[in-house]
Amino acid sequence: MAVKSIRDVELKGKRVFFRFDFNVPLDGGGGIQDDTRIRRAVPTLKLALGAGAKCILSSHLGRPKGQRKPELSLKPVAERLSKLLNVEVAFVQDCIGPEVKAAVDALQPGGALLLENLRFHAGETKNDEEFARELGSIADVFVNDAFGTAHRAHASTAGITQFVGTKAAGLLLMEELESLGKAFSNPARPLIALFGGAKVSDKLGVLENLADRLDTILIGGGMANTFLKAQGVNPGISKTEDDLLETAVKIMESVQKNGNRIILPADVVTAEAIEPKARTMVCEVESIPPGEMALDIGPRTSALFRKEIEAAATIVWNGPMGVFETEPFKNGTRNVARAVGAAKAFSVVGGGDTVRAVKLFGVRDRISYISTGGGAFMEYMEGKTLPGVAALDTSSQIKK
Ligand code: 3PG
Repeated sequence: MAVKSIRDVELKGKRVFFRFDFNVPLDGGGGIQDDTRIRRAVPTLKLALGAGAKCILSSHLGRPKGQRKPELSLKPVAERLSKLLNVEVAFVQDCIGPEVKAAVDALQPGGALLLENLRFHAGETKNDEEFARELGSIADVFVNDAFGTAHRAHASTAGITQFVGTKAAGLLLMEELESLGKAFSNPARPLIALFGGAKVSDKLGVLENLADRLDTILIGGGMANTFLKAQGVNPGISKTEDDLLETAVKIMESVQKNGNRIILPADVVTAEAIEPKARTMVCEVESIPPGEMALDIGPRTSALFRKEIEAAATIVWNGPMGVFETEPFKNGTRNVARAVGAAKAFSVVGGGDTVRAVKLFGVRDRISYISTGGGAFMEYMEGKTLPGVAALDTSSQIKK
């Protein structure tokens, strides 16, 4: 059932508690390295400020484990938001307590206040009821716009909803759910997935959940080596997960049983070590030399994958095709990024490394939808219920 959108909530003069995911990479010198997640919160905030809401903004940053860690303060986020919104976003040095209550009381309609990092209190990740009640006590309406944290049942994503009457999704969360729904619930076909990254174990849940729904699965990256080994290929000194060889066979069988295809690399780029100046060679997967490891897909595989990408109507991509951060092993991921960027299909990309790759290879603007979720994107693909979404009102519920 669809969740209630912020667009369907009366906001004027209301104290609206927003949960955002401002868990952004920092540059180590007190600055923000990548403000994408902050920018993606702007449409929701503009809508709420324009509607005359009293906006109380919250987020976590990093994993301070209940400790107050100055290097994980959200203050720089308040400064960045003030610039992006052209509205002063006040900052308060805690997220509960008298100072927060006073700051909320002083908020005017159309005003915004950012609370300090929720995870400076242990009650946040424990989903502590008292802490959640405190958070809820300053709000008339709760809006969750933190897709990136929707897989966590924490006080500010789940517990708080027991203490606030109206609970809706922000524009970003709505957009994420609509876009992922378009790719997975009722996709235009053929629906293909490109999976890469180091480990099969990270993708097991996703592969098991989607095996019968994806028309074609293209596998690259380190995880391909385990699949290749399961097929009897000798991957040299490539890292493999030998405890998952049987599982890999079962996955391949289950995909094929459903009449779908799983395509593994035909050739790879190998080297003795992951080094920028490594001596590399391209070889067929059957001829990986014993002292070498596969660190990227080869050109024949890139061409094979491009053909599938060109023919697809929906593309989902998670995980790089090789060690793209190291010069000699970036071509496979770059070729695939360019192919996805040029495709006519509806394309969805998610996960930190993959998003970094589409940015690095200059195709960010050509992807239909880039998810802000890492773990949340994976759990969505695993078919799990996201607690931060499940706790919201549904669109059929009457406003309270
Ligand atoms: C993320 O970056 O994936 C989210 O902000 C969640 O962070 P967490 O894994 O620390 O809960």
